[in-house]
Amino acid sequence: MDEKVNVLVIGAGIMGHSIAMDFAAHGYPTALYDQSAEQLEMAKKLVTGNVQLLEAEDMITAEGVKNVNDLLVYTDKLEDAAKKAKFVVEAVPEVPDIKQAVYAELDKLCSPDTIFTSTTSGMNIYDVVQISNPGRLIIGHFNNPAHIIPLVEVVMGPETSQETLEFTKKIYESLDHVPVVLKQYAIGFIVNRLNTALAREANYIVEQGWATPEDVDKAITNNAGLKLAFEGPLELYDHIGWELGKLGGTFLAPMLCNTTATALPDKLCEEGNLGVKTGKGLKDYSGLDRSEIQNNRNRKILKVIRTV
Ligand SMILES: NC(=O)c1ccc[n+]([C@@H]2O[C@H](COP(=O)([O-])OP(=O)(O)OC[C@H]3O[C@@H](n4cnc5c(N)ncnc54)[C@H](O)[C@@H]3O)[C@@H](O)[C@H]2O)c1
Repeated sequence: MDEKVNVLVIGAGIMGHSIAMDFAAHGYPTALYDQSAEQLEMAKKLVTGNVQLLEAEDMITAEGVKNVNDLLVYTDKLEDAAKKAKFVVEAVPEVPDIKQAVYAELDKLCSPDTIFTSTTSGMNIYDVVQISNPGRLIIGHFNNPAHIIPLVEVVMGPETSQETLEFTKKIYESLDHVPVVLKQYAIGFIVNRLNTALAREANYIVEQGWATPEDVDKAITNNAGLKLAFEGPLELYDHIGWELGKLGGTFLAPMLCNTTATALPDKLCEEGNLGVKTGKGLKDYSGLDRSEIQNNRNRKILKVIRTV
């Protein structure tokens, strides 16, 4: 995209800081707005850390680093940034009242043709918020860490215009992201529906006592995981044969878990072992530095991205 429109990111949390950094790195004058000065300070620190990691991994150009320094502004004042913005990314908490208040404010301040995108993980934003000119509203669901994971799920609403869709796709492509389109809202979009199907069956196998959690994970990382980075679960059948896909759908699918399987998550939640953030999940992370754990994981993701 040649024209580098002004971008406004609302909410400087887990998603917002990383999305704002990404836009700025690719040459977009970007304002990152949050009502909390503390969050803005944290966002600055996280952006600095993100840039350092990308530099160390040779995944950002010198121009990209300069752009982040020159083009990303952190602000707790909405009005000016909203008036200038042509593309808004809303990344505030998944709470209807908060989203409604933010869109009401944006509607008052932004130009009528400014595109509004929501990073909601699953909320039907089209039922929740009301704005004038709803043709400009669209969901753009980044994945975490947003400046590293290429995918953005673009989910159209009943009134989203074709122009909004095309512009939104183009702007994501200009960030080297990969947009995929859901033609209408469906809860969980594509990724969370597929992830939940896999996690439910993994939990079920453990719940039945057929295999340990460790072996279930190994079964995927040493097989499907190696291919899924370059070949989706549908294209896969071009290689193993669609007659086996048909057999799986006919005989195996009805035998799979089709309700809930939550014994493992229930147990871990009851114990308070929620994962890295509490120092223990399936694995023990106690005594380890959380940002180092995150960086190690991000390094592995970057390595895969470089390879495929
Ligand atoms: N965390 C994830 O992995 C993830 C992944 C994909 C999508 N999402 C979605 O992205 C959105 C943001 O999630 P997050 O995890 O970044 O949340 P977060 O809690 O980390 O950050 C939200 C930020 O919004 C700010 N905020 C709250 N009310 C505000 C207001 N009225 N005006 C301006 N700023 C305000 C908060 O101060 C906070 O900094 C949610 O809709 C979430 O479902 C999250």
